[in-house]
Amino acid sequence: MGWNSLDDMDLAGKRVLVRVDINVPVEAGKVTDDTRIRRIAPTVADIRAKGGKPVLLAHFGRPKGKVVAEMSLQPLVPALEAAFGASVAFCADCRGPAAEAAVAALQDGDVLLLENTRFHAGEEKNDAALAAEMAKLGDIYCNDAFSAAHRAHASTEALAQQLPACAGRLMQAELTALEAALGQPQRPVTAVVGGAKVSTKLELLGNLVEKVDTLVIGGGMANTFLAAQGIDVGKSLCEHDMAPTAKEILAKAAAQGCAILLPSDVVVAREFKANAANETVAADACPADAMILDAGPATVAAVSDALAGSKTLIWNGPMGAFEIAPFDAATNAAALQAAALTKSGSLVSVAGGGDTVAALNQAGAADSFTYISTAGGAFLEWMEGKTLPGVAALEQ
Ligand code: 3PG
Repeated sequence: MGWNSLDDMDLAGKRVLVRVDINVPVEAGKVTDDTRIRRIAPTVADIRAKGGKPVLLAHFGRPKGKVVAEMSLQPLVPALEAAFGASVAFCADCRGPAAEAAVAALQDGDVLLLENTRFHAGEEKNDAALAAEMAKLGDIYCNDAFSAAHRAHASTEALAQQLPACAGRLMQAELTALEAALGQPQRPVTAVVGGAKVSTKLELLGNLVEKVDTLVIGGGMANTFLAAQGIDVGKSLCEHDMAPTAKEILAKAAAQGCAILLPSDVVVAREFKANAANETVAADACPADAMILDAGPATVAAVSDALAGSKTLIWNGPMGAFEIAPFDAATNAAALQAAALTKSGSLVSVAGGGDTVAALNQAGAADSFTYISTAGGAFLEWMEGKTLPGVAALEQ
């Protein structure tokens, strides 16, 4: 792969500008999921162990070029300190005299967090002048924010052009796992794609049918594919206007030799609520007054067979309405099967996307997957086959 890692850089005595993604959920001033913070800890530890001084650059929320007090990064300092096992200084700007003074004051072993890069309009414009001001604060640039790499912003793209650049440990892990899943995978490869709408995952489906051997389509978007084949899906979530597109994807899959696995049986209910009365019917027998909320056991068995015959799995999106039991059954069963196959050594399993990670955690399967990405939008764009500007900038 054409990028440097921390191992390729001499960090001793150097100020290392590290772009991280600590855009984490916060409620009442407290971090409610610190996954992204924990996952950057090895990078910070490595830089400190090699005698470098980590200076963290990050965005938070979407302040659109203005200072928005509620989007300050300062409240995250305690969570960073807990994850790093080190004290973290904070500076209320990511450029200019205050930031320069804060960096100059750093002693060996210190970590500095700079304020939200998106408080400056130049950040989202990928402004080279803002990047030049940031570049004054470091000797080396390290991008550890795969989950923000789909943004061509000053701190993710322009800055990489202005300093010797490398990937951090999390970026390295993400790129290595994704390469193993879709770049140079062991075949056969199965993709599980679920979620509510076909319209949000069109490019992804179009790219996957060219790359994988079996594509399992689940969740609400499966209804659109069933309807496109003339099946009455009753009151189910369905994008009827996407029928021609769904047919095009099916035709492309057939031409590419990619098997499409749609539900053959479904769990239907009259109400969208937990524990609603439900029944399992054939996929073409949804009652007119009911809605499909999950895949049925015959479909789960077919997905299990596909997984058992696969060497690689890439997963994005739940297979049913996983947030309300018992309509999480298909997602849970497939997730646990993937976890068991991974543990036995026969499957490389990679998953990403917000809902996906929540569903795999709920199933108790996430810890056994080979790799769980920290990325939402960036994971989708990567699955769509797009070049991520933050990654491309490291490869130059
Ligand atoms: C994310 O949370 O997925 C990243 O931090 C990117 O955030 P954005 O969608 O606001 O650019």
